[in-house]
Amino acid sequence: MSNSNESSHFSGRKRHFDSKYEDEHYKKTQRTNQHAAVVAEHYNKRENTSCAVRRNSKIYYMRNFNNWTKSVLIKKYLDKLRSGNWKHKPTILDLGCGKGGDLLKWNKGNIRKIICTDIAATSITQCKERYDLLKKKSRNNQVFDAEFLVADSGKESLKEMFSNPETEIDITSCQFVIHYTFESETQAEKMVRNACESLQEGGYFIGTTVNAKKLVNKLHSAEDMKFGNDVYSVRFQSKDSFPDFGCQYQFQLDDVVDCPEFLLKKKNLVQLCQKYGMHLVEWKTFAEFFDENCNDNENFKLIRRMKALEEYPSVSGPLNSSIRSDYDHAKKEIDRIISKHPRSEPRVATLSKTEWEAASIYVVYAFIKDSNVSRSSPERTKEETNDAEEKIPLVII
Ligand SMILES: C[S@@+](CC[C@H](N)C(=O)[O-])C[C@H]1O[C@@H](n2cnc3c(N)ncnc32)[C@H](O)[C@@H]1O
Repeated sequence: MSNSNESSHFSGRKRHFDSKYEDEHYKKTQRTNQHAAVVAEHYNKRENTSCAVRRNSKIYYMRNFNNWTKSVLIKKYLDKLRSGNWKHKPTILDLGCGKGGDLLKWNKGNIRKIICTDIAATSITQCKERYDLLKKKSRNNQVFDAEFLVADSGKESLKEMFSNPETEIDITSCQFVIHYTFESETQAEKMVRNACESLQEGGYFIGTTVNAKKLVNKLHSAEDMKFGNDVYSVRFQSKDSFPDFGCQYQFQLDDVVDCPEFLLKKKNLVQLCQKYGMHLVEWKTFAEFFDENCNDNENFKLIRRMKALEEYPSVSGPLNSSIRSDYDHAKKEIDRIISKHPRSEPRVATLSKTEWEAASIYVVYAFIKDSNVSRSSPERTKEETNDAEEKIPLVII
């Protein structure tokens, strides 16, 4: 949709969108794929929570931290486009957009258009409502254009469902989603194809997903098939068999997520992407990504604005985690500073160990569309770090 007077478009297989379609779509996914239906039902049932409810959540800072990570990733790759030859405003494809939690981030990035897609019809309805509100609040109703699609990206071809199938995408973003399609190679490949086939040369495919290496290491240190803590748990079906596709585990996160997910190994995603002319440019644990980006002035300010880390000692009220040892690392850093500067009253911002354990099972990734790169050429990212080297994010404030 290039016409900004008619800036939003809503479809599911180009059908008129209504609750009847919502039911039909759900029944269809249920018939064809049970896991996808479970995932769609789970996300359809999830309610929009108020700020007050979110504030009282045991994973309040972890969710903000994840949002900070996505904001920085999105800004980084928009900046990369602009520092190249990109003269036009970018068009974005958000795969598994959920309720549109990233719309504001894209709005800040001055984009031309976004295509939001998700398997959960209710999430898409809420995403569109969020977009409409954003538009209403903006000066002269001027925001980027948007299109909304209900689709299973692991089964359906999105390109054919775009209002203009020739649309060229500059960045595809897939945040906390792609592992759902690693149920089978066919689904994973379909997802990657959807992510990459409409991308322009030099465009990026960015996202966040599970850190398979870390999950497997944690499983090996666990006594049974399950590990986790007060806020999250992961239950595998086997301790010694990790097939490349279809390696299912049950993931639970506070009262937010309780879904079957599938292990995604870096090598498999890299290989699938290479089929579509994509070359890996970044693969980092959340700890590495934080370390690399937190000192930038704007990103540092964003930590405070987004409340991505919790202040320690607390200024008002109790700390988010009631487990005292959860803040040992922060106390240690404060003691270290005081021993150097005895008259100082240092303060830090960090995550509780409990929240960090849940946040640190993810990685960020980015691929560039570069069809000239040989399929067998080595990737330019460094090897993954060991868990032991990871420090809980902490900044002095
Ligand atoms: C953890 S949520 C992330 C939502 C959003 N990307 C964000 O970062 O806030 C995962 C989303 O992926 C969607 N999803 C899962 N499997 C999908 C599939 N096969 N096709 C499209 N969306 C899918 C779910 O419905 C859900 O909205």
